[in-house]
Amino acid sequence: MIPVSDLKRQYLKFKEEFDKSIHDVLDSSWFILGNKVKEFEKNFAKYVGVKYAIGVANGTEALQLGLFALDVKRGDEVITVSNTTTPTVIAISNVGAKPVFVDINEESYNIDINKIEEKITNKTKAIMPVHIYGQSADLDPIKKIARKYGLKIIEDCAQAHGTLYKGKKIGSIGDLGAFSFYPSKNLGAYGDAGLITTNNRQLAKKIFMLRNYGKRNRYESYIIGFNSRLDEIQASLLNTKLKYLNTWNVVRRKIAKEYDKNLKNVITPKEMFYGKHIYHLYVIRSKKRDKLRNYLKKNGVGSQIHYPVPVHLQPCYDYLNIKKGSLPITEKFCNEILSIPLYPELTKEEVEKVINTINNFK
Ligand SMILES: Cc1ncc(COP(=O)(O)O)c(C=O)c1O
Repeated sequence: MIPVSDLKRQYLKFKEEFDKSIHDVLDSSWFILGNKVKEFEKNFAKYVGVKYAIGVANGTEALQLGLFALDVKRGDEVITVSNTTTPTVIAISNVGAKPVFVDINEESYNIDINKIEEKITNKTKAIMPVHIYGQSADLDPIKKIARKYGLKIIEDCAQAHGTLYKGKKIGSIGDLGAFSFYPSKNLGAYGDAGLITTNNRQLAKKIFMLRNYGKRNRYESYIIGFNSRLDEIQASLLNTKLKYLNTWNVVRRKIAKEYDKNLKNVITPKEMFYGKHIYHLYVIRSKKRDKLRNYLKKNGVGSQIHYPVPVHLQPCYDYLNIKKGSLPITEKFCNEILSIPLYPELTKEEVEKVINTINNFK
């Protein structure tokens, strides 16, 4: 079976180096908010091209702390998409705000920029575009709308480490960028980890406090904060892995181009003119998705669905009373999408097998 993702392959390839980065922390026996976190924050800020990066516990809390820092609270509304994983949206709910969903663009699978304005009310505080599967949302028009209505932008960059929008790294364009280093991401930790990027000094200062009990120095809690820290072991490993991220993304893109060129009878993802996709996921579409998935499984090719149930139809959002059919593209696509194997360690033979198997599906 060609698995849809396989973290062990990368680990075995870099075992010595990765083990060392973990053992360095054990040897130092400094586990929380030390030099490794500082170093990673510095390196990742440079990578994204922002002034500040703040390591936090995971991607969900990166979004949550970001919204908190932007002063989004009960009674406010935040505009986002439903074609995402629930943490994007529960971050909005967890600060007390109401998520408001906009349908997606048929080509990019990202927020439809032409449908944002109709969802804005006097309660709207922020827009949270999700750079889904590794491709950027169309940020310039979103910035224009945000400026017009005085809204903040918090980018969900959890699937887009290294993605470009008009030559700039995502995470450097909105007011804040929120990253996840969940193990399967293009840059993945060996546990939970996350980070917030910004160019805004005030926001950065607030988030540095928020992640650590609201402290502004060792003994003084200035605001009521959280415990949401990136730990030294994850930071050390991420520092080591960051050096390889660009190379890994190049290989992902190469495999994606092979798929683009050779796959038949399915709809392949489109790379938008405005950016550079890093193919965290390679998502095809087929009207016969479930049959195709079963057939692939029988023929030794793994696949997954990201995501079979859009967030507005999840039981936890019943209370919003959003009717089925209200986000037609999102709802249609969730019955057609299928993620096929794509990671830098896939062999040429495996890529060929994936292509041939899909092309032989009737
Ligand atoms: C788009 C998106 N947003 C948010 C998250 C949440 O990140 P985490 O699992 O690190 O909390 C993830 C990853 O799981 C994600 O893919």
